[in-house]
Amino acid sequence: MTYTDKEKKFSRYTVTSALPYANGPVHIGHLAGVYVPADIYARYLRSAGEEVLFLGGSDEHGVPITIKARKEGVTPQDIVDRYHAIIKESFSQLGISFDIYSRTSSPEHHETAAAYFKKLYDEGKFIEKTSMQYYDEEAHQFLADRYITGTCPHCGNEHAYGDQCEACGTSLNATDLINPKSTLSGNPPVMRETRHWYLPLDQDELWLRQWILEQHKGDWKTNVYGQCKSWIDAGLQPRAVTRDLDWGVKVPLADADGKVLYVWFDAPIGYISFTRQLKGGDWEKWWKSDDTKLVHFIGKDNIVFHCIIFPAMLKAEGSFILPENVPANEFLNLEGDKISTSRNWAVWLHEYLQDFPGKQDVLRYTLCSNAPETKDNDFTWKDFQLKNNSELVAILGNFVNRTMVLTHKFFEGKVPVCGALSETEEGLVREMASFPERVGRSIETYRFREALAEMMNLARLGNKYLTDTEPWKLIKSDPARTATVLNLSLQICANLAILCEPFLPFTAEKMRRMLNLAPLGWRAAEGHTLLQAGHALEKPELLFEQIDDAAIAAQVNKLLETKRQNELNAWAPAQVKETVAFDDFGKVDIRVGTVLECAKVPKADKLLQFKIEDGMGTRTIVSGIAKYYPEPEKLVGMQVCFIANFAPRKLKGVESQGMILSAEDKDGRLVLVSPSQLVTPGCSVG
Ligand code: 2FM
Ligand code: ZN
Repeated sequence: MTYTDKEKKFSRYTVTSALPYANGPVHIGHLAGVYVPADIYARYLRSAGEEVLFLGGSDEHGVPITIKARKEGVTPQDIVDRYHAIIKESFSQLGISFDIYSRTSSPEHHETAAAYFKKLYDEGKFIEKTSMQYYDEEAHQFLADRYITGTCPHCGNEHAYGDQCEACGTSLNATDLINPKSTLSGNPPVMRETRHWYLPLDQDELWLRQWILEQHKGDWKTNVYGQCKSWIDAGLQPRAVTRDLDWGVKVPLADADGKVLYVWFDAPIGYISFTRQLKGGDWEKWWKSDDTKLVHFIGKDNIVFHCIIFPAMLKAEGSFILPENVPANEFLNLEGDKISTSRNWAVWLHEYLQDFPGKQDVLRYTLCSNAPETKDNDFTWKDFQLKNNSELVAILGNFVNRTMVLTHKFFEGKVPVCGALSETEEGLVREMASFPERVGRSIETYRFREALAEMMNLARLGNKYLTDTEPWKLIKSDPARTATVLNLSLQICANLAILCEPFLPFTAEKMRRMLNLAPLGWRAAEGHTLLQAGHALEKPELLFEQIDDAAIAAQVNKLLETKRQNELNAWAPAQVKETVAFDDFGKVDIRVGTVLECAKVPKADKLLQFKIEDGMGTRTIVSGIAKYYPEPEKLVGMQVCFIANFAPRKLKGVESQGMILSAEDKDGRLVLVSPSQLVTPGCSVG
């Protein structure tokens, strides 16, 4: 039984994690927001002896996938096949312990989702409406959601989508956009009539209000509760559950050709179809039994779908349970900037796993201890290094290593006998026994940061105990006391091996291997007799190693390079200046000259001094291009264009008699402008 349920209310747990769109790999934002906490929760419950079903899978429908496919000239199936494989593999390598990781493009899912729709349809749970929607006459297609862009009426962002403005976060209807444009043809769309099925959410307000705002006041997180309240207070509107699109679950009605289920209708049904896939005939108890606790792990952008729309779908069907909790997290930023797939501003899981082999737990630890549980948070590489070096290495790793090494050194690697305990040690034993409940309660109430910090406090306690008792000195005067100290320290290690497992599964396994300890249930960690005297230990292995500055610098540089690339991609030619009359242009006297000498101006990093043959004699011109021409002597003989009637001016003590023309490239580099063939020095350019 868990610590927070007074009586045994729940016999099993259905734990879902948001299905990531299979149109890109998974990044640390997804992990910190959804998958790391969900995995900790599922692992903890299993360790506590509960029956758990942990569901995950790829969300393979929706407009962004079809847009990406079109851009790359491949099919949507190609796109989802590619990313489903990458995502599934990287989750597995990080130790995310899904009982099933499936996908919504599978025939089983299509069948389940279509049947779900059909049941609601047959029972009259939808309303049918015709409405005017945007249509692209050139592409012969209705423009769902992201096929349409325009200006956001709320914030003026010119690149808002038909379903949402990413700049201000407002959820939009395509018809709200100012100056709408089709992303297919770039043309302004026309209005055309179309028919869709709607879930009449306006009729759900009463029970939603009662269920969320009254029943779950206090136990749902304030960010989740607050969002639900403002949705409900604003008044719920009927939501279309079908789309005019050719990628998705086909609407199972004879007259619905060319229509599919809206991705947000079919995706959450994925949780149900994956359960059926895994459990076969035994699936229903996971969804239809009052003693099943359903918990959805999601990011904050999914709150309305999991707290209002999906529950309304479940309620409409009639035989399903509702979620007991939806512990949504806020967002994780990266180095102070919003994580963005399109700007490649992310730490991608599959790349991390390649760059830091064997360090899955370091990422899990950093993301959990920094999880955006109550507010947006920031991931920095410096902090990642610090968490590894001064927490994992210095606290947990150091304690376990000292205990193991000393036991091998003084007691031949066998658990020494525990003698009489001092008063302090009695206190320590009592405190040890309180950890499973302390950590467990925090996990059960979705406070994963706090839970992790508690677990680390046990390692801190162990370190303090070693520091206070100094067994490395004590051995000389009192081997029997030393035996007791190391016995107790080993018991702490054994408890830690159990308590750290939900957070750091790879480390837990290493610790069990070293301690020669079979997997034990959560409450076993209340004890101080897990290891019997004489029990043989394996050789110590280091749990964690230092991460050096070079490894961190490499990651920071990778991000800086991304930033640079983004700036280049954002480059556009400068606006053309005001029109000038021919006569005005004629006032500027541009000539060609030949470079006779060129050298750096002493004590001026940026300046080159040119001696130019200008057909009338020679002149000196100083130009700020030294950075781009590190070997100025090589310019001798080259022809350049210069303004001959520029007023002379002194630069670093040298009089410059004109200005040499150069082009500024998009990265800021200056390139000399030169005639395409040799011409006579002094001739005019115009
Ligand atoms: O926001 C997202 O990434 C969605 N693909 C989440 C879907 S969760 C569920 F309902 F399937
Ligand atoms: Zn906006």
